[in-house]
Amino acid sequence: MRRTRIAGTGSYLPEKILTNADLERMVETSDEWITARTGIRERHIAAPGEFTSDLATEAGRRALAMAGVAADEIDLIIVATVTGDFSWPATACVVQHNLQAGRAFAFDISAACSGFLYGMSIADSYIKAGSAKKVLLIGAEVFSRIVDWQDRGTCILFGDGAGAAVLVAGEGDHGLLSCHLHADGSFWPLLYQMGQGSRNPAAPASAEQGNPFVQMQGNEVFKVAVRSLCEAGEEALDANGLHADDVDMLIPHQANRRILEATAKRLGIPLERVMVNVDRVGNTSAASIPIALDEAHRSGRIKQGDTLLLNAFGGGFTWGAALIRW
Ligand code: ACO
Repeated sequence: MRRTRIAGTGSYLPEKILTNADLERMVETSDEWITARTGIRERHIAAPGEFTSDLATEAGRRALAMAGVAADEIDLIIVATVTGDFSWPATACVVQHNLQAGRAFAFDISAACSGFLYGMSIADSYIKAGSAKKVLLIGAEVFSRIVDWQDRGTCILFGDGAGAAVLVAGEGDHGLLSCHLHADGSFWPLLYQMGQGSRNPAAPASAEQGNPFVQMQGNEVFKVAVRSLCEAGEEALDANGLHADDVDMLIPHQANRRILEATAKRLGIPLERVMVNVDRVGNTSAASIPIALDEAHRSGRIKQGDTLLLNAFGGGFTWGAALIRW
């Protein structure tokens, strides 16, 4: 049976780190408040002149190197992002050029924090249909350019970064077992941004046309997120006849520590089997799952034959889960 397999992973975090102590000097907040409510201690911030495509390119390059796949072997590049360089062209096209992946067709997808899972499902469909053999899937975000740095309710949450995976056609039991995606557009007003491409972000002066920055009703998002993440996780397990005990590692979207803990608890997965790096990277939206996956992989926490459950929730609302046999 043809199955999509992950041949390599990579990630890239910008050098600059913004700590909670730094934020205390920017807005009325405290390290104590941020840590208690979110578990986030620091996040990475792209340098001036460093764009989403740059982060994506570096993560992609590292994933290709691990997979031992040359850029010109890639058939398709998908970049999941809501902070692409421009409204158009797609950031994936800039990445295709940067990597000299001349054979690949390339496009972006917008599913906010669920973007990597949406991208995985799309890549899987192309691979299963036989229309692509090697896909470079990247989640990349520069949220620092679309948050209002005077809004303490949002600016403390997000970080910049990129993660990538090379997906290839394989045979047998290993690889992506299933992917389960959902959306409910009635919730869009709880989490959105009316801006433009992150290379040329909206200025506060344009606020009379509507606030251009990230808008969020955090406590409402929180409630729906936990419920949806659990339902998607259970759906993925049920579809494969598996139980929480069969999961070697839960790799959730790193939104905040309280969401991770509540979801893991309701799913019945102990915290020692949950990948957590939100304390060091914050919420990197579509980049969050592939960054966590790469970290778990490179640190040797994932072993051959392990069953991984990935789940995500984000603006749209969109949410979903995927099961992978490594
Ligand atoms: N520092 C200090 N006080 C703050 C801060 C801050 N950074 N931000 C908000 N507050 C204040 C509020 O003004 C409010 O004050 P008031 O009671 O005087 O009005 C008080 O703290 C409580 O505000 P809430 O918004 O109710 O706080 P809550 O406990 O819900 O925590 C948080 C806020 C952390 C945003 C939480 O709701 C959350 O994590 N929600 C999930 C949102 C999320 O993760 N979004 C990301 C995109 S979707 C996703 O990735 C899942």
